[in-house]
Amino acid sequence: MRIDVVSIFPEYLAPLELSLIGKARQDGLLKLTVHDLRDFTTDRHRTVDDTPYGGGAGMVMKPEPWAQALGAVAGTAAAGEGELRKPVLIVPSPAGERFTQAIAHELAEEEQLVFACGRYEGIDERVLEWAADHFTVRPMSLGDYVLNGGEVAVLAMVEAIGRLLPGVVGNPESLVEESHSDGLLEYPVYTKPSSWRGRDVPAVLLSGNHGKIAQWRRHEQYRRTAERRPDLLEAFDAGTLPRADRTAFADLGYDIEDGRLRRRADA
Ligand code: ADE
Repeated sequence: MRIDVVSIFPEYLAPLELSLIGKARQDGLLKLTVHDLRDFTTDRHRTVDDTPYGGGAGMVMKPEPWAQALGAVAGTAAAGEGELRKPVLIVPSPAGERFTQAIAHELAEEEQLVFACGRYEGIDERVLEWAADHFTVRPMSLGDYVLNGGEVAVLAMVEAIGRLLPGVVGNPESLVEESHSDGLLEYPVYTKPSSWRGRDVPAVLLSGNHGKIAQWRRHEQYRRTAERRPDLLEAFDAGTLPRADRTAFADLGYDIEDGRLRRRADA
């Protein structure tokens, strides 16, 4: 996969040289280049922003440096049968679509991703309209809070996407049983010693009974998700659950109607 990041603070992306993503770059699994937006300006002051039309606080990023930068990094990748596949342009913004694990999986299938890091009040909207001719444009938000710019969001998204690329995570099994891989939060984990400061590891984990362990972990996922992220259970398919799992949900205060979980009014 090829990734290009455009930013006025290229140094902000330095952590992408570390750990698994840094290793993936060294191993050639990920070709990641960070570009300085100011290299695509033409004035002496390397200006990237200007005052907003209509007034208001803050500054807006000027369109032309962005068009120059995006034009320079937009590669064309073959999509098979002579067709050309547009790269995906991801624009981090609190006004974007919510970035999820499902989207990370989708984006991990692409040949080229370009990240456009906005600062100030954002990028002139016409850049996104213009870019749609050359890219699949996806404004993306990490969550309902405001960062100072797109760089930190790019660190998070590149890590979430990069670890899904073949060969990046040493043991692909570890990608299967983790939070959000099945629409639920992950079960709690423990290591040695089995008794620590008066707290014992749940006995079932020491039992050697793999069926029981798998069931306990699943039920812990249900319990945690119901407690911390009940919104995730609205989309959960409870239609084909074994009886013990239905009971686990009943104990958590959920009925199952037409394969969907419904929180009991008295729960
Ligand atoms: N830029 C500023 N805030 C952001 C957020 N919440 N998600 C993604 N990019 C952002």
